[in-house]
This record gives sequence, C-alpha cells and structure tokens, in this order.
Amino acid sequence: MPLESFIGDIMEDRQKIHDLPIEKLAGLLTGSAFWQTAECEEIGMEAVTLSDGPHGLRVQDKMPNHLGMGTSCPSTCFPTAALMACSWDTQLGEELGEHLGAEAAYMGVAMVLGPGLNIKRSPKCGRNFEYFSEDPYLSGKMAAAYVRGIQSCGTAACIKHFAVNSRERARMVYDCRVDERTLRETYLTGFEIAVKEGKPAAVMTAYNKVNGEYCNSSRRLVGGILRGEWGFDGLVVSDWGGTFDKVASVKAGVDLEMPRCNFSAEEVAEAVENGSLDRSLAEDAAARQLAFSRAAAGVRVRDVDWIAHSRFARRCAENSMVLLKNEDGALPLGAAERVALIGDFAQTPRYQGAGSSLVNPTFLDNIRDELTAAGVNVAGFARGFRRKGGNSGRLVAEAVRLARRADCVVVCLGLPEGMELESCDRAGLSLPENQLALLNALRPLGKKIVAVLSCGGVVDMSWDEDCSAVLYAGLAGQSGGAAAAAVLTGAVNPSGKLAETFPLREEDVPCHYIYNKHAYKMDYAEGIYVGYKYYNTLGVPVRYPFGFGLSYTSFAFSDAAADESGASVTVTNVGDREGATVVQMYVGIPRRDLQISPAELKGFAKVRLAPGESRRVFIPFDSLSFRTWDAASGGWTEGGDCEVCLGESSRDIFFRTVINRGPQPAADGEKYSYERWFAAHISPDEPKIKHKKGDIEATLMTEIYDLKYSRGFVGRLFALISRLYSRSKDEILANSMNHLPIRFILLFMNYDRTQAEGFLQACNGSFFGGIKKILFKKRPRGRGKETRL
Ligand code: BGC
Repeated sequence: MPLESFIGDIMEDRQKIHDLPIEKLAGLLTGSAFWQTAECEEIGMEAVTLSDGPHGLRVQDKMPNHLGMGTSCPSTCFPTAALMACSWDTQLGEELGEHLGAEAAYMGVAMVLGPGLNIKRSPKCGRNFEYFSEDPYLSGKMAAAYVRGIQSCGTAACIKHFAVNSRERARMVYDCRVDERTLRETYLTGFEIAVKEGKPAAVMTAYNKVNGEYCNSSRRLVGGILRGEWGFDGLVVSDWGGTFDKVASVKAGVDLEMPRCNFSAEEVAEAVENGSLDRSLAEDAAARQLAFSRAAAGVRVRDVDWIAHSRFARRCAENSMVLLKNEDGALPLGAAERVALIGDFAQTPRYQGAGSSLVNPTFLDNIRDELTAAGVNVAGFARGFRRKGGNSGRLVAEAVRLARRADCVVVCLGLPEGMELESCDRAGLSLPENQLALLNALRPLGKKIVAVLSCGGVVDMSWDEDCSAVLYAGLAGQSGGAAAAAVLTGAVNPSGKLAETFPLREEDVPCHYIYNKHAYKMDYAEGIYVGYKYYNTLGVPVRYPFGFGLSYTSFAFSDAAADESGASVTVTNVGDREGATVVQMYVGIPRRDLQISPAELKGFAKVRLAPGESRRVFIPFDSLSFRTWDAASGGWTEGGDCEVCLGESSRDIFFRTVINRGPQPAADGEKYSYERWFAAHISPDEPKIKHKKGDIEATLMTEIYDLKYSRGFVGRLFALISRLYSRSKDEILANSMNHLPIRFILLFMNYDRTQAEGFLQACNGSFFGGIKKILFKKRPRGRGKETRL
C-alpha cells in the first residue's frame, strides 16, 4: 500500500491536525501499546497493529516483547531471507510476500515489520539469517519483491533496519564509521532499490549510529537521503525502543516511536512550546500516520489456506537450497542405497533463527520423516551429537555402528539455536566441536558421506573434504525437511546459488581484524570491498564463491553479446533433467581513485529449462549499472570503459566485453591500493576514558554499564544488577543488558516523565527526591491496551 494516494486525501485533515492541542498531537507520535499505533477521534485516526516479521508473522496477544520470547499466534514459517536470497528469484520473493501479506490481513495486522535487508558484512553477525546477502543489488531486488507481494494484499511492509546495521553486539550504542562512497554504494543502495522499486509504506530506522549520529535522529539519513533524495513519503518508524532523543528524531523526519513511550509526548510538547521544535514537523508526522491508518482501514480480511501456505513454504525452500558439492554423482540418492541418517538436525530441525523474527509455526516437518516418506531406504537414525553440550562418545559410537551397516551416510549438521541470535554475534565460524568429532569418527569408515547443513549463514567448511556431497539447506522454514528430502532424492533439481561467499578461512573475511574489535565503534575500513568484491578483486581463494551452486543437469551458454541496452545470452539445458540456473551480470566500473575496480552484480535472471531446451536471456542495464559514487563532487557519476561480464557465478564468467560510457572522470589524486584504502579508513583509537565512581552524570542516553560510575548508589546498584543479570541463562537478554541506554529501560518499565526524571535524579545522587518521583508519579498510565486478535 504505497501511501502516496492517501497523502493527497488527508490534506483537508491538515487543519484538524493543526487545531489539535499540542499534548494531543505529541501523543500521536508514539505508539498506544507495544504493537499498536495511537488513535485520535478528533482527526479520525484509528489505532493499527504492527507485527514482526520477515519470514512469518509473530502476532502476540499477551506478554508483548521485541525479542521473540513468549508465545505468539501460529503462522506459516517460511524460509528465512538468507535462504530465500539463494533462489535469486524475485518472482518467488514476491509470492512469499503475498503469502505474508495475506496472513497479516487475516490476523488484523496492518504492517509487517520486514523484510530486513542489512548487508552481511561479516559472517559473524548474529542476525545474518534475517538478511538477504552480502550484495546490495541482490538484497535490494529481493526486498523490493517482498514489499510488492506484502503490499499487494493491502498490508504495509516496513523495510529495516535503516541503515548500516551489520552487527548485533552492543547494537544500541555502537557507531559505524563509514566513508561516503561505501555508505552509498554498499550500505544504502539496497534500501534505495527497495524504496524506489518496492514503494514500501514504511521504513524502520536502525538502533546504531552512523558517523556519530543515531540513525533514528539522523536528519541526513532520514530527512536528507531517504525522504529528500529518494522521495520516500511513507512512514518512518523507530526500531523497538530505538528512539534515543525524541525531539531530534521528529526533527529528522521520523513519524512514529515504537513501542509506546510514556514520556516522549511531554518531551515533544515541551520542545514545541519552548520553540526548539517546529510544530509543523510534528504535524507532518501525524499526517503521515493518519494517511497510514486510513490506508490500513482498507485492508480486507481474508481466509488463509494454511496447508497451501505450508506447501508454498516448501516450494520456496526447494528453489533456494544450494548444492555445494556433488562428487561422482553422489546425489541424488539411489533407490537401492541403504542410508544411515545421522545428526540431531535430521530429527529436530533447525529451521529459523531466534529473536524478534521467531515464528510459532503452524506445522513442522523433519528430514527423518520426509526421507522415509519419500521412499528412501533409511537403515536407521542416530543422533550423533547433542545440540548443546560437549562430545558424547556414546552418541558417536552409536552413529558409527549405524554407518557401518549402510552404503551411504546422510549427516545433518548445522548451527545450534544459540549461535544465531538477535542481539549477539557469533564468536567464530566453526561448527560446534561435537559435530566435527562426529565427522572425524565417520571419515575412516570410507562410506559416501552426504552433509546437509542447516544454518542461516556462512560456516567454516574445512570439513567438506570428508564429504562426497554437501547440501546447504539454510534455515528452510516449517516445510524444510520435505524440501531437503526432495533435493536429496532428486525429486527436485537444486537451483539455489549462494548469496554470500563461503571463505576458506575465517581470517580471510575482509573485516576480520576489525569486526567487533571495539564495543562502541565499528570502522568500515574495508570500504566497498565486502564479500565477493574483496575476494574476487584481490584474488583471495574461497571455498564457495558468491553466486555458486550446482545442479543435477548442466547448462551451455552461447552467442553472448552486449550493447548499450544490456547483455544477452542463449542458455541451453544440455543435461537430461529439467533444471534452472541463474545468469549473473557483473559490471566493473573504472574508478579514478581505486587501483582495482571490483566487478559488481548489476543484473540476474533465473531460467528454468526442460532437457534440450534453449532460451535467449536478456539482462537490461538500468540506472544502477554503471554508476559510482564520486566523493569529490558528492554525487553519482558514470564514465570510462566498463567491463560487462556474464557468468554462472561471480567466479565462473563465460563472457566479457567492454562498454564505453563516455569519458572517464579525470583522476584527482593518488590511487588507493586495497591495503592503503584499508589503512586510511581506520579511525584513530579513542583514548580509553577511565571513569571513577561518581564521574558519570546519568542522562537518558547513558548506557546501563556506565551507571557503574554514577554518583548515586541507585545507579550503581542498577548497573550491578544488570551485570549479574548478564550472567543469566537468557542469552538474548544477557548479551544486550549492559549496553542498553537508560531511555530504553525506562520506556520498557512503562515510566512516565516524572518517574523518568526521578530515576535519573536517583542515579545522580538525589535518592529521596528521585524515589519520591518514581513512587508518586504524576498520573497513572497503563502499558496501553493490546488489541485482541
Ligand atoms: C528488532 C526489529 C523488530 C522489533 C520488534 C527489534 O528488537 O530489531 O527488527 O522488528 O524488535 O520486535
């Protein structure tokens, strides 16, 4: 539901908004509850419900929270974005969006909080499973497709997290130091594509800072780039608890703070009254919300065929899983082969990630049942390892005994739930030790080993030498077991291609030495050399390249050509099975200040062909194909001899040609080599501030951790409780607790302004004054009413 049509309609309501008392107006800029926006009779604005998320709905009717804890209503769990991106199929992405939109409409949800399209800068980011790719073009195209699908049902989509949100550690306080070209080309381009092509009704700001400024209060990112340059006129929503300075946020162009904050209305009203905030900005925000609530009122509630949705989830997974290795035709499994099925994941699937995207599935299958149902001769199942905990000699011995009785071992490996979480990053890329120990025990048996890998991102795969075949099954959603079984048996010919690179070693990742080095800042020193743009440009060997994936058939490419309008090639299926491949177009743009220009993905087309069938594929150039950000003039530029390549992966290029795009802009100085670029973009280390007790004057922006140095013992006690809590069992909370700003905590404690002031006062040493305000609040307010669904 693009809002443009509604913006026009509410123009006559502007006067009504203008006439609202300031307290009332200010109150509209925060939610009315955890998942609901505010309502206002005077202007005819109704409350609407928002809900996560990107690969299935998480509609909560009790115990609302933003971390996936507690229950939610059942809904279809589709494959996560990380796997869907491997389909390289925007049509399928759009259909997934339609299914999400339909379920949302059925559940009375007006806005789906997704898709997420942050760039996978490091494989360690705990939330990579929720994002599409290391590449902005692929991410942007997939996100735009989801948005079109979701919004075709009348439901709004909210793309997130804008912007440069590529780590989870200390996610509410860290600052991304990123140069302008990298920001534009790598971290904003995907959002730009999604905004311009998908026309989402909403954009969610990220928690982090970019170059010293919180995204949520960045006039440059929100007002300047998103609204100004890209012409976005929809709703800008904060991440949950991600408004750190309410007045600055309104000034930046953010319309809605979520969830409800009991003291932000007063902050806004006070700023308008004292002249530090222009009232018309608050009116604009209210007008956009009114437009949104009107648009939401038109959403038709429809019935959902849950079984069909589950089947569709399976189709998504079948079209996305990536066959990484298949020596001597190890796959598909032969009808007569006796298969030893090993690995905990075969029975208890790992099919989604944890955190705000957690879906309560309507149904859940597993590989064990599905392989048997597919008629595979399963000789038995052995768990092989425990999901949590160390090596188990007993489980390994049992697996070895089973493997001895079989012709072939299908071993289901992956990352346990606790390793891919919102709010924490991974410490390394290895699979858990107990899974590697299992492989070590199976190897000497000399059996054919087929590995099925369930995880939302890149893992170290040095163990793949022990395997004849490897299937990357990703986090495949509730019907992922059936999809994996179909690929393993050959009922489905795999056609997924990697949307991120699997490096040879963890140390090869371009940002390895700087990622998460500091709690508070992140240098983006590798610049635009993210993922394959680094490995391919610098010639670093990788295990599996970006864009790679095998098939049970093979394709021939002939008569490739390129002209001013695009590149084309004839693709022929030269095997004996139906199958699909992806023609990928990469463009290398000569840049005046780079020694080597990375070839970047600028187009792709998925083609499905019957055996012997041929098709001419044309990939058009567009406004993104040849552009590059010119830091000197502060704008996009084009020119020079650009190399256009077609390939079946970023490393398997079958056609290259040069297209001249006019004169290359003159060089304006020394050329950077990668190493010099890298060195030039490491910001100097800030001297460690050594605080002493009493040094810190608590404000709403102060981190809980720093309360350790506050003047009042209340602050210090709070910091201590938080530190103790950090050692608690709940991994998500434990990892984020210390690095939460006070404002976040007060919002979730449902404090009003007086109480918030009281809390700060108590932290700052005025115990009695502070406690009095906390206990005798100005007026009682509830958390707000959650709409019953
Ligand atoms: C996440 C968002 C999510 C929101 C609401 C936040 O913690 O970052 O992606 O939409 O919670 O659950």
